Amino acid sequence: MKTVITYGTFDILHIGHINLLRRARALGDRLVVGLSSDEFNRGKHKSSLLNFENRKVVLESIRYVDEVFPEHNWEQKVDDIKRYGAAVFVMGHDWEGKFDFLSEFCQVRYLPRTESISTTEIKQSLAISVVGVTQ
Ligand code: CTP
Repeated sequence: MKTVITYGTFDILHIGHINLLRRARALGDRLVVGLSSDEFNRGKHKSSLLNFENRKVVLESIRYVDEVFPEHNWEQKVDDIKRYGAAVFVMGHDWEGKFDFLSEFCQVRYLPRTESISTTEIKQSLAISVVGVTQ
């Protein structure tokens, strides 16, 4: 069984997330996803609309995702790769080169991001449309 591992916040799920998860899962037989905890996000000065429990329920219901576990810090990846026996580590290409040091433990792949969509853009569009409605 070939295990693929990836990480992210996956807040306000969108097509870019689904494309990434589908491509990652296609690289093996099982996809495990490290989902950033609310505390970890706060530490990164990144707020999510949905809390960890909500994001986890949504992520777990995707057919390409086999297991979701919490990501608490930057340092846990080597332990996670070993614990799950992951053969491939996947991230979107916005992270190109940042995780090359993990190639000591498994294959590292950066997949193309889906263009023109991100959680940040969705939040900005919503903010603009809310302002538009109240004007
Ligand atoms: N991703 C992708 N294509 C997009 C958006 C995200 O392939 N258009 C990938 C990222 O590269 C990452 C994973 O999805 O591997 C989770 O990304 P995340 O940071 O949770 O989503 P974003 O939409 O990029 O969120 P934000 O705008 O808050 O950075």
